[in-house]
Amino acid sequence: MNITLCGYGVVGKGVEKLCELTNDLNIQYIYVRKEKEDLPRFSNEEHIVEDPSIDIVMECMNGLEPANTLIRKALKAKKHVITSNKAVIATYLEDYLDLAKDNDTTIQIEACVAGGIPFLDALLKLQRLEPIQGYEGIFNGTSNYILDQMTKNALDYEVALKNAQDLGYAEKDPTNDVEGIDVYYKAVISNMLAYKNKKLELPKPVGISKISNNDIALAKENGKIIRHLAISVCKDEKVCTIIAPAFLDNGTFLANVENNYNAQTIHAHSFETLGYLGQGAGQLATAQAMMQNAIDTLENKERTIILTNTYTYDETLIKENWII
Ligand code: HSE
Repeated sequence: MNITLCGYGVVGKGVEKLCELTNDLNIQYIYVRKEKEDLPRFSNEEHIVEDPSIDIVMECMNGLEPANTLIRKALKAKKHVITSNKAVIATYLEDYLDLAKDNDTTIQIEACVAGGIPFLDALLKLQRLEPIQGYEGIFNGTSNYILDQMTKNALDYEVALKNAQDLGYAEKDPTNDVEGIDVYYKAVISNMLAYKNKKLELPKPVGISKISNNDIALAKENGKIIRHLAISVCKDEKVCTIIAPAFLDNGTFLANVENNYNAQTIHAHSFETLGYLGQGAGQLATAQAMMQNAIDTLENKERTIILTNTYTYDETLIKENWII
C-alpha cells in the first residue's frame, strides 16, 4: 500500500524508519509545512493526500491545523487515515468517524494515547463485551521523569525539567506536559473509547509544576511516592475522571514506574485489573503504534470505533487554547 506521510518530525522520521521493515508499506509522499526542494518526495501541496495512487495517509503533525484540513481531505478522498495527533482527535473524532463512514474508509488513532502501549486498542477491544469500570495511569512521560528525578536524586523541579528538555522528552513548550494538559487530551480520547452511553465531564487538570522538594521528602518519610495520574471511575451512569498528582504507596505498580515510562491499569468485572507498562512517547515507540494501525489496514482488521457518549470538556483547554 502507498502512504502519504504528513509531518516529518520525530514521529514521522520514526515511521519512515519502521516502514523499511516491511515491503508492503511504501511512503510515496511526505507532506511538510515548508517544501524541501531537493527531495522529490517532499511537498507542501495538500493534494498529495488525495492522490489516486495513495491508500493510507499517516498524519503526525501536532496541533489543529493544517492537520485537520489534511485529514478531512484524505477521508473525503476515501483514504485510510492513521494519526498520532491528540489535538485533532480530542476535538474532531466524531466528525472524522462520520466522514470515514460516509466514504467507506477508516480512521485509526492508537498513537494518540500512551505511545507504544496498546492502551486504546485494549479499551476498544474490552468494552465490546462488558462495561469498563475504570482505568488509571501515568500518561505523561515528561512529568514522570521529572517526579522520578526529584525523588531519586533530590533534584529541584527546574533542574529536573531542564534535564527532561535536554533529553528531548518534553514537548516544545513544556506547559502541556507539566500542567496536565497533554494528559487531559489523552483522557478525553480514552473516555470516548472506554465508556458507552455516558455523560462525560472532565474537570481541569492539576499538573506537577507546584510540587516542591518538601512535598517529595514528606511523601518519602511516610512510605509514599508522588506520581502524576489520570484516574477514571465509572459506576452506573456516572463517570468521574481526575488528573492530578497523587501519593502512592511505595512498591505499588504505578509507584514503581521509573524515568519517562507510562503505565496504565484497566478495570472490568471479569478480569478485575489489567496492567500495561511501556514507552508512552519517543520516536520508535509512537511510530510503531502508527505502523500497527497501518498493518491492520493492510490486513483489513481495523478496530471499529463507535462513539455513544455525550461529553462536556473544558472548552478553553480543548478548542481555544491549544498550546502545542
Ligand atoms: N510529551 C509527551 C510525554 C509525549 O512526555 O509523555 C507525547 O504524548
